[in-house]
Amino acid sequence: MCGIIGAIAQRDVEPILIEGLRRLEYRGYDSAGLVVLNPDAGLQRERAVGKVEALAQRLAGDGLRGTLGIAHTRWATHGSPTEYNAHPHMSRDHIAVVHNGIIENYAEIRGELKAKGYTFTSDTDTEVIAHQIMDYCLQGLDLLESVQRAVTHFTGAYALGVIARDQPDRLIAVRQGSPLIIGVGIGEHFIASDIQAMLPVTQRFIYLENGDLAELRRDQVRLFNAELQPVERPLTESSLTAGAADRGRYRHFMLKEIHEQPRAVAETLEGRLSGDGVLEGILGPDSEALLKRVKSLQILACGTSYHAGMVAGYWIEGLLGLPCRVEVASEFRYRRHAVLPDCLLLTISQSGETADSLAALRQAREDDYLGALAICNVPESSLVRESDMVLMTHAGPEIGVASTKAFTTQLVALFLLVLALGRHHGLDAARIRHFVEQLRTLPAVMEKVLHLDAPIERLAMSLVEKQHALFLGRGCHYPIALEGALKLKEISYIHAEAYPAGELKHGPLALVDADMPVVVVAPNNALLEKLKSNLEEVRARGGHLLVFTDDVEALGHDGAIQSLAVPPVDDWLSPIIHTIPLQLLAYHTAVLKGTDVDQPRNLAKSVTVE
Ligand code: G6P
Repeated sequence: MCGIIGAIAQRDVEPILIEGLRRLEYRGYDSAGLVVLNPDAGLQRERAVGKVEALAQRLAGDGLRGTLGIAHTRWATHGSPTEYNAHPHMSRDHIAVVHNGIIENYAEIRGELKAKGYTFTSDTDTEVIAHQIMDYCLQGLDLLESVQRAVTHFTGAYALGVIARDQPDRLIAVRQGSPLIIGVGIGEHFIASDIQAMLPVTQRFIYLENGDLAELRRDQVRLFNAELQPVERPLTESSLTAGAADRGRYRHFMLKEIHEQPRAVAETLEGRLSGDGVLEGILGPDSEALLKRVKSLQILACGTSYHAGMVAGYWIEGLLGLPCRVEVASEFRYRRHAVLPDCLLLTISQSGETADSLAALRQAREDDYLGALAICNVPESSLVRESDMVLMTHAGPEIGVASTKAFTTQLVALFLLVLALGRHHGLDAARIRHFVEQLRTLPAVMEKVLHLDAPIERLAMSLVEKQHALFLGRGCHYPIALEGALKLKEISYIHAEAYPAGELKHGPLALVDADMPVVVVAPNNALLEKLKSNLEEVRARGGHLLVFTDDVEALGHDGAIQSLAVPPVDDWLSPIIHTIPLQLLAYHTAVLKGTDVDQPRNLAKSVTVE
């Protein structure tokens, strides 16, 4: 999704902007650009379609000289990914703007501005912002006031960085809906869509709230609310370092993040378990009283986080007997829904900035829920700040667009929630103790699964030439099949669908032939015998079976099935373990196909627009 970086400094800012853009690449984008204010030549713009590297190469040589600038990675929403649609957008060589978000009423404003004589050179919604600000500047308003007045015209979501040719000492920022953070330096200040982009230059940040405007000068940052009244926001110090976003010895961030899972899970458990249970208050000081009152749950999320929510749905109903609904946020937010009695609202998000998840949370806040709990990986995110209780996953920064360690840590956090609820909802102490013991073994078991890398790479060789794949699972392993299919389609571009195995004969079986690989998640549990019948149905049609199981013998292994054994754990927790081979399968298939593993085409890491 679009990324913003801006800087006002006493040194040339172009290298800071280019490094910031590189560090925003993981969000997903299709073009990049920057504007630097040169004292003699004015606003100097360079833009390029494709990678940030293409932009950097254009700047090689003399580059752009100047101590104030804004830059952007664009993920096309309005208008194709071309150079003329890339940001920054300018008005009359006087105003330059970078924008993350969507101006919903841009067509109407575009008409008004055209009538006033403004010329449009792009198909974007963003260009109206530059001209609208220019229009107020021409009426004699100061730059900050012009920005404040301009945004009153816009409906939708925006984070903006704005500079003006005649204002070499000011960088203006404003946010509504889309994230924007101020980086506080010494004699220099920055803006960016996330802190990753600014870590090489500062570790001190101010998170803008919705409606906030900021005026950055080299020696000062001033913040205002939407009415231009001065406001204060806390300064936070991050413990992250620039190196946290390095690939290290790994070929891709995704592979690094897959291998980080044992540590990430250990850190998510850290400080939350007692000898034989879950510590009280892991959701916050007053949370226990609320957990006691919960009679039902509503889970909302998108993408991979939604799959984590689906697994939790099986856990909550299966282990606690509490009704639990799970829905994708983009559906929930646009339909009338009945609130279950004494219902806890639970949102799950890696980034905490997903537009649909945030909107669904905000909408649900108006209904009669007991409270809003967020499971999230980014402590300073909007989702965390807008929820009553939080349970952080401690996955660390996730850079690969395809989510891996965020997912397994979400599952672990969700299981901790199940145990915390279980204390008040019929899970006896011996069962809780057993689950806690099992949770503690997870990092070591995950390490063992990671050692299966080489055989999984061999399995990937049988997928790489295929056009389609089916994934099957049953019970709480069905969402794992969904997640496996999502991983494969995201990064290898092989069309993959997941089905609950029992549904096979109600449609997808018609697709099965020798060209259709069928990947099966088949732990040895009460459903294995049923699943084996489903495998027979595939085999009888000549389908190519790749089966992941924790008990090859029980599966009745024979030559027609390619199977791979993962170490057994308690069946309720085995979704966490069975996820890893599917991540590796997708990864190796994508590498063999030569696709862009960390930044797959058309996708974004953090989807901050609807
Ligand atoms: C995007 C990402 C996915 C992610 C989803 C939800 O589609 O590419 O990896 O699962 O957004 O993101 P969230 O940050 O809310 O978990």
